[in-house]
Amino acid sequence: MRRFEDSNWKKTMRIRFDFNNMMSDMLGDGWGIKREQIAALAPQIRAAIEKLNQKRKIGKTQWRELPYTQKEVVKDILTIADEIREKFEAFVLLGIGGSALGPIAVHQALNHLHYNEIPREKRGGPRFYVVDNVDPERMQALFDVIDVKNTVFNVVTKSGNTSETIAQFLIVRNMLKEAVGEKYSEHIIATTDAEKGSLIKIAREEGFKTFYIPAGVGGRFSELSPVGLLPAAVCGIDIEELLAGAAYMDEVCSQDDVFKNPAYMAAVLQFIAMKQGKNISVMMPYADSLKYMADWYAQLWAESLGKKLDLDGKEVYVGQTPVKALGVTDQHSQIQLYTEGPFDKVITFLTVEKYRSQVPIPRAYEDMSGVSFLGGHTMNRLIQVEQMATEYALYKAKRMNRTIILPEVNAFTIGQLLYLLEVETAFVAELLNINAFDQPGVEEGKIATYALMGRLGYENKKAELDSRPEKKAEYII
Ligand code: PA5
Repeated sequence: MRRFEDSNWKKTMRIRFDFNNMMSDMLGDGWGIKREQIAALAPQIRAAIEKLNQKRKIGKTQWRELPYTQKEVVKDILTIADEIREKFEAFVLLGIGGSALGPIAVHQALNHLHYNEIPREKRGGPRFYVVDNVDPERMQALFDVIDVKNTVFNVVTKSGNTSETIAQFLIVRNMLKEAVGEKYSEHIIATTDAEKGSLIKIAREEGFKTFYIPAGVGGRFSELSPVGLLPAAVCGIDIEELLAGAAYMDEVCSQDDVFKNPAYMAAVLQFIAMKQGKNISVMMPYADSLKYMADWYAQLWAESLGKKLDLDGKEVYVGQTPVKALGVTDQHSQIQLYTEGPFDKVITFLTVEKYRSQVPIPRAYEDMSGVSFLGGHTMNRLIQVEQMATEYALYKAKRMNRTIILPEVNAFTIGQLLYLLEVETAFVAELLNINAFDQPGVEEGKIATYALMGRLGYENKKAELDSRPEKKAEYII
């Protein structure tokens, strides 16, 4: 039996949501959220639950089914992952946004923190790189550390048309052709939509191995599809456990009672907080392994909730700006602002009960009280105490904060965390009556790029751009 099939083990690994410091009865009268405010929202909450359930029933939220629908694909992924581990020295993911942030976050969480630098036999898989930008220096830097002859490139794009990813692909394809000739197609794996976009056409014509992102699963909700599963499996992560964690959180989040459902409660509290002018959502993991979870969350939260129009076409201009922080590092950079600056934030801590390493702090300098108190403890204790201390400082300063507690960082808890945050996001969107799954605000910039890069059919946009006011020299100093 795998450990994720053992219900007792699963219970011990359940992640928990502590919202004490969001509540008025903890922060003090006049601060935080009152239980009555949650009770008053009951009809809205009920309606949001019904709408989400209905969408799920008619198959409109396919991302929610990924823990169950990927089983066959997982078999294929595991086979390919074995082959890649045998044949290649480096695995490079070319993608951006939702096609890159999840793989980065899961890799950081579940692999060695210096994965690429440890010896191959300890790593188990090829070195792993994600190129999620079109910075020429970064692209060149990649080619300085890999040999394309023993590298496999995973081109990931749901739309199959994203300019940044396609540009990277064109560069890589050319280099591969020069390096390995007609065998270049054996070095490229496409992860994309089965029908739409340019990449799938190219992949079929040129014979690339292909994985599909299921229809109805948008970029930022796609980590539990082949987008995230293939790179994770290649680097030795237990993707079945990851999916089992997500399925477990799905069970937890299927309860209608918000006081039992962490995703709904988290969403309701954020919704009320937003109405109270908390325009910023800080995610602050106390673990380097969770550092990029905050990046992944930032995109999920920002693109899903930052909307001008609601579902009735009314201008609402909603959203909460996500900010990434890392405990304890950013205690020495951002906490001053969070405890004494404007009352415009909700801080979410991610904490870990049991780290995978235990590092003792040796005793020394017993006559120096400023040093000696540290000796005999562990770094584990220090990081946990610092989180408690920061939480206390925020509580004392009447700042709304909440904590997601991970018993450990493992594939099961990470699967839960991803799923929890996705459901929270979708539920806030229902409460706000907005579409969490589109990103119309990104379009203008994309179209302007097409026009400026000379794409056929965008001549009018180019003319519009050319007629914009000249920048004034006096404003550039
Ligand atoms: O969440 C989203 O849909 C976006 O952020 C996309 O992931 C991003 O724009 C990249 O798109 P694609 O995967 O189509 O290349």
